[in-house]
Amino acid sequence: MESQHVMEQIIDWRNIRDDFPILRRQVHGKPLTYLDSAASAQKPQMVIDAVSDAYSQHYSNVHRGIHQLSEEATDRFEATRAKIAHFINAPSADEIVLTQGATMSLNIIAHSYGGLVLKEGDEVLISIADHHANIVPWQMICKQTGATLKAAPVEPDGHIDMDKISDMVTDKTRIIAMPHVSNVLGTVYDIKALSELAHAHDAVMVVDGCQGAVHMPVDVQALGCDFYVFSAHKLYGPSGIGMMWGRKELLVDMPPFIGGGSMIDRVTIEQSTYADPPERFEAGTPPIAEAIGFAAAIDYVDAIGMDQIRNHEHDLITYAHQKLSAIDGVRLIGTAPGKSGVISFVMDCAHPHDISTIVDRAGVAIRAGHHCAQPLHDYLDLPATARASVGIYNTRQDFDILAEALEKVKVIFA
Ligand code: ALA
Repeated sequence: MESQHVMEQIIDWRNIRDDFPILRRQVHGKPLTYLDSAASAQKPQMVIDAVSDAYSQHYSNVHRGIHQLSEEATDRFEATRAKIAHFINAPSADEIVLTQGATMSLNIIAHSYGGLVLKEGDEVLISIADHHANIVPWQMICKQTGATLKAAPVEPDGHIDMDKISDMVTDKTRIIAMPHVSNVLGTVYDIKALSELAHAHDAVMVVDGCQGAVHMPVDVQALGCDFYVFSAHKLYGPSGIGMMWGRKELLVDMPPFIGGGSMIDRVTIEQSTYADPPERFEAGTPPIAEAIGFAAAIDYVDAIGMDQIRNHEHDLITYAHQKLSAIDGVRLIGTAPGKSGVISFVMDCAHPHDISTIVDRAGVAIRAGHHCAQPLHDYLDLPATARASVGIYNTRQDFDILAEALEKVKVIFA
């Protein structure tokens, strides 16, 4: 009890909001209530300053120049790799590939690793709750190789029945690729159990951590997975940069996916040899200032503590569930125990697009639509959902404001 009190004294979550300049602005004359962090999170001043400092003091291309500025930019860029490795407890910074985001990371894994190992008749198992970034690349590579793509179900309340997933894994399964957290249902997948399942069938476990690494501590070694990816922009960092972690023994055998400068060893007109990982997967000039901003974002959340962030957001999700389910005509979509990050819902009286438009007039930003997860919406037989998602700057009051705005939706549409 006492330690909890001390914890609460250390972090006053209401003050976190002050670190984010955009949260001081108004929308439609109302203070901004930002509940769309699952689509993209806002940026603290520390990240904005890091990007600005990179451009105004240390900018040049990386890995190319024998001059002071290039060395400064390269040192800062490479420091990000080490910081990410520490953040997810990867064994080595050489296993961290800096990409343009989680979508690119998943495309590299699908085309490079998938292209290497998949043959006709093999199987790739994803989840019906995946977002398109963890569906479409697998469809593409399965079509090219003759492998079959299968999608494991979720239960109507959003929880995962591991027996049903086990039943779908066969000796032909080469890859299991699933979300750490569903971006619609909030369901947290048991990655450790899935990794054990994959390995028992000589398959690899790929984790789409877009909604995982932002809400909870991630230890890839404890999870036992083989690949883990996420984007910086959902972790309060810049857009256009993300990461792919892969076990070294897998990365070394993987061919490049994109060719160009930086990923080569020797180039002649006839042929090229390639650099070792991670550079093999980093063709062209990378997002340099964005990488430096990514490191600042990790410093920012590390200073608060991912455990504390998980606890704070768990409190918010619990409160939001109580608040929203108390409104007559609101139905929550995804109520699995221990869920994280998002609260999706529908209302009897209004389409999610109309809900979003009305609450926006009250300064509340939520997302409405299929959230890049059309197969899940088809499966749930819903054309769309409204989704409020949480970040570190949210408080219970934000959900009071949302609930009040939803009452207005009822008045307008009922
Ligand atoms: N997949 C992102 C979301 O959930 C864009 O909104």
